[in-house]
Amino acid sequence: MDKLIIEGGVRLKGEVTVSGAKNAVLPILAATLLTDYACVIKGVPNLRDVNTMLRILRSLGKNAELDKGIVTVTSGRQKNFVADYRLVSTMRASFCVLGPLLAKLKKAKVSLPGGCVIGIRPVDLHLKGIKALGADLSIESGYVVATAQKLTGCRIYLGGVYGSSVLATDNVMMAAVLAKGKTIIESAACEPEVMDLAEFLIKMGAKIEGHGTPTIEIEGVRELHGANHTIIADRIEAGTLMVAGLITKGDITIKNVVYQHLGALIDKLEEAEAGITKTDTSVRVRVKKQIKPINITTLPYPGFPTDMQAQMMSLMTVTPGISVITEKIYPDRFMHVAELNRMGAHIQREGPHAIVEGVSHLSAAPVMASDLRASASLVLAGLVACGKTSVLRIYHLDRGYERLEDKLQALGARIRREKE
Ligand code: EPZ
Repeated sequence: MDKLIIEGGVRLKGEVTVSGAKNAVLPILAATLLTDYACVIKGVPNLRDVNTMLRILRSLGKNAELDKGIVTVTSGRQKNFVADYRLVSTMRASFCVLGPLLAKLKKAKVSLPGGCVIGIRPVDLHLKGIKALGADLSIESGYVVATAQKLTGCRIYLGGVYGSSVLATDNVMMAAVLAKGKTIIESAACEPEVMDLAEFLIKMGAKIEGHGTPTIEIEGVRELHGANHTIIADRIEAGTLMVAGLITKGDITIKNVVYQHLGALIDKLEEAEAGITKTDTSVRVRVKKQIKPINITTLPYPGFPTDMQAQMMSLMTVTPGISVITEKIYPDRFMHVAELNRMGAHIQREGPHAIVEGVSHLSAAPVMASDLRASASLVLAGLVACGKTSVLRIYHLDRGYERLEDKLQALGARIRREKE
C-alpha cells in the first residue's frame, strides 16, 4: 500500500486544472449498458473507482478501456446481467447498474452494496423506484434480483429520511428512459452530476426534462443509440484544491471549474472573508487576512456538499475561534476527527455536530486514511502541519483524486508518494 509524505509550511502558488467529475463519470459509464451501440466518454479521470466500474462493464459483456482520458464502450458478444459481489462491494456506485440492466435486458442480479465507514448506505429508495416501475424484486443471498417483462412509467416520490438520493435518482432515471410512458420523479436529486447523466442520456435519444430540479420528467422511448460526451469538471476536487490554497495561506488559480456548481462552498468561504476571485472557467483563492470561523451544515445540492465537510474541517482546525460543523447527510461521517486531533486539532464531536476550536498550529504525525474525503482532509492538514506528516492507506484517496500529489507538487507543496 502507498503512503504520502507531506512536509508542511509551504504557501501554495500557481495554477492547477481540475479533472473530470468522479460522481458524474460513474453513472454515465453505467448508462452505456442501455445501448448496444458505441459510446465515447471524454474527460474521464484515471481513478480506482473508474477502473472498478470499467471492470464491472467488462464483466457485463462490454468492451471498455480508459486511454488518455477517453473511454470507448462497445458491446461484446455475450451479455451478462449479474453484477458480482466482489466488484460491487468495493464501490457502492456500482449499484447504479441495476436500472440500466433491468431496462435493457429486463432482468438484473446486482449485489447489495456493503456499508462503509461513512454510514450504513441503504438502497431502499433505489428499490422503491425500480419496483414502482413494475419490476419484480427479491433479495437472494445478498443480491437484488429484479425482473420485468416491461417497465411502465409512473409518478415516484424519491425523498428519503435524509432528503434526495443522488444514485437512487440516477438508477430510477436510467430504468425509466426505456419504460413505456411517462415517469415523474419527485424529490429528485439536483446535483450537477445527476444533470450530467441526464444530458448524456438525452444525447443517447432519451426524453428527459427538469433534470437539475426536484422534479424530473422522463418520456420512455423504444431504444437508445450511442453518444459522445465530455464529463463535467469535478466540483469536489475543485473545492478541495481551494481549501489547499487557503489552509497554506497561498494564492492559487484553479482552472476548468464550473463556478455555478460551487455556490454553497464559495458562499461559506466569502463569509469566512477568504479572497475568492472568479472568472467563467476558473477560481482564484488567496488569503488577504486571517479567515474567520464559520458554521456549516451539509445538505443535498444546492446546499453545502457533504463531500466537502472533512476538507472544510481541516481548514477550521487552524482558524482562530469556534466553528460548528453539522453533518446532515451522513451523521457518522467524522472518521477524520480522531486523526486530526492526533495532529493537535481541538475537535469535539457531539452526535452529528463537530465543534472545532482553532489552534495556532498542527503538528505532523503518522495518520490513517479511512475514506475518500477523510483522506483529503488529512492531506490538507499535512500541508500546514509543522514537520513531516505520513498519510497511510492512500488507496482511499486514489479512489476519487487523480494523482493529487502531482497537482499539489506543481503548486509548490513538498509532498511525495512512497510504498508503505
Ligand atoms: C452520492 O452517493 C455520492 N457518490 C457521494 O459521494 C455523496 O456523498 C452522496 O451522493 C451525497 O451527495 C456518488 O455519486 C458515486 P445518496 P449516494 O443516496 O448516491 C440516504 C464521495 O465522497 N439514502 O445521495 O450513495 C443515504 O444514507 C461519495 O465522492 C437512503 O436513505 O448518496 C444518505 O444519508 C461519498 N436510502 C442520503 O440518503 C437510499 O436508498 C444521501 O445519500 C439511498 C440513500
